[in-house]
Amino acid sequence: MSSRVNLLAPKVRMNPYPLYAELRQSAPVSQVDPGGLWAVSRYADVITVMKNPQLFSSEGIRRTYRPPWISNYPMADSMLVMDPPHHTRLRSLVNRAFGASVMTRLEPRIRELAQQIATALPSGQTVDFVDAFSIRVPIAVLGDLVGIPPSLHARLKQWAEVMTRFTSVGPEDTALQERIRAAVTEARQHFEQVVEERRRAPREDLVSDLLRARVDGEALTPVDLMGFMFLLLIGGLETTVHLLSGCALKLQEDPALMARLRAEPELIPCFIDEMLRHSGPVHGVVRLVTDEVELGGARIPQGERLLLLMASANRDEAQFPDPDRFDLERPGPQNLPFGHGVHFCLGAQLARMEARLALEALLARFTRLSLGEEPARWNVSLVMRGPTLLPLAAHTD
Ligand code: HEM
Repeated sequence: MSSRVNLLAPKVRMNPYPLYAELRQSAPVSQVDPGGLWAVSRYADVITVMKNPQLFSSEGIRRTYRPPWISNYPMADSMLVMDPPHHTRLRSLVNRAFGASVMTRLEPRIRELAQQIATALPSGQTVDFVDAFSIRVPIAVLGDLVGIPPSLHARLKQWAEVMTRFTSVGPEDTALQERIRAAVTEARQHFEQVVEERRRAPREDLVSDLLRARVDGEALTPVDLMGFMFLLLIGGLETTVHLLSGCALKLQEDPALMARLRAEPELIPCFIDEMLRHSGPVHGVVRLVTDEVELGGARIPQGERLLLLMASANRDEAQFPDPDRFDLERPGPQNLPFGHGVHFCLGAQLARMEARLALEALLARFTRLSLGEEPARWNVSLVMRGPTLLPLAAHTD
């Protein structure tokens, strides 16, 4: 491959996997557009990078969250953009609160909610599945985690939608910058209010647990806490929504698979795992090179940014035999869709549980899914891939 490829070209967005295969084959570490990031497309190289935060830093990309047009964006204080030892301290504190108790507390609520969502879906009528199905469980879970009541879930969704555009906003796009600033201010005010209320009257919930957490006598600072709440908003919603939309689309495309999962619901976790590998929501993760390095045959200068193409690594033929084939029997679990090393996704178990309960309810009620007339619309992003509109009808016959 001689000239730079553009990962956001419309044809690539429609289906990026053939390009990923070409990159793995002939330019496994190479600069791409937009932005000239170095795309890393092979499984082994992605793992190498994720295992070495000193040389491939997350903290180095913090300045992405500190552009001149916004001050104090809490994502810049989140552990996603920290390296050890700062990251280690914060992660241990948060781990205390984000453990098995979150799952145990949430499971019965999510099961009930998932059944309500499936019951409310109209039979035989085309709806936007993103809105009517995929977002419903993740938004309720997020609301519960950050203490935002159901009456404000529509706001929560808007904040997340606007803020996920943060990394793609241009220097001239002042209208979007203003919308982001407004969403950040509003979300921060609500989160601060929740923190204040839980400080005064702790409950059995995540924010109260975070306030109680101590490691070596040290607690989370208010800045740490706000950074974490914003990280949940950005990392916990869109990912899981895209996963569920991808699952629905796959069930529509493959009626035999849908029939099999209805007959054998115990296979649903394998289905979710193979979906995450084959068509997972996170396509790219960014790191900064702290010292000149050779990777995958390329020499990369200090200060350059890497785009770890997770979705390509998950289809690497050197790691997965016949990688483009969707194979329910593939040995699992495959964890790379949730990252690797110190930043491994804190919500991996929760996301898997949300997806399992939502799909169990959908499959218990409906026999097949069909496409609506309007085509699906896909998002435009280097880091995430999923539909923003997914017209589908669910059928009970
Ligand atoms: C299908 C759903 C999800 C996928 C595919 C996913 C994927 C990922 C990936 C790849 C990372 C690593 C990023 C990096 O290395 O820079 C990550 C980190 C993280 N995820 Fe998830 N995620 C999902 C759902 C969730 C949920 C539901 C939550 C919480 C509600 C969550 C919370 C986090 C947090 C807090 C981190 C940062 C961990 C750290 O920096 O130590 N994620 N996720």
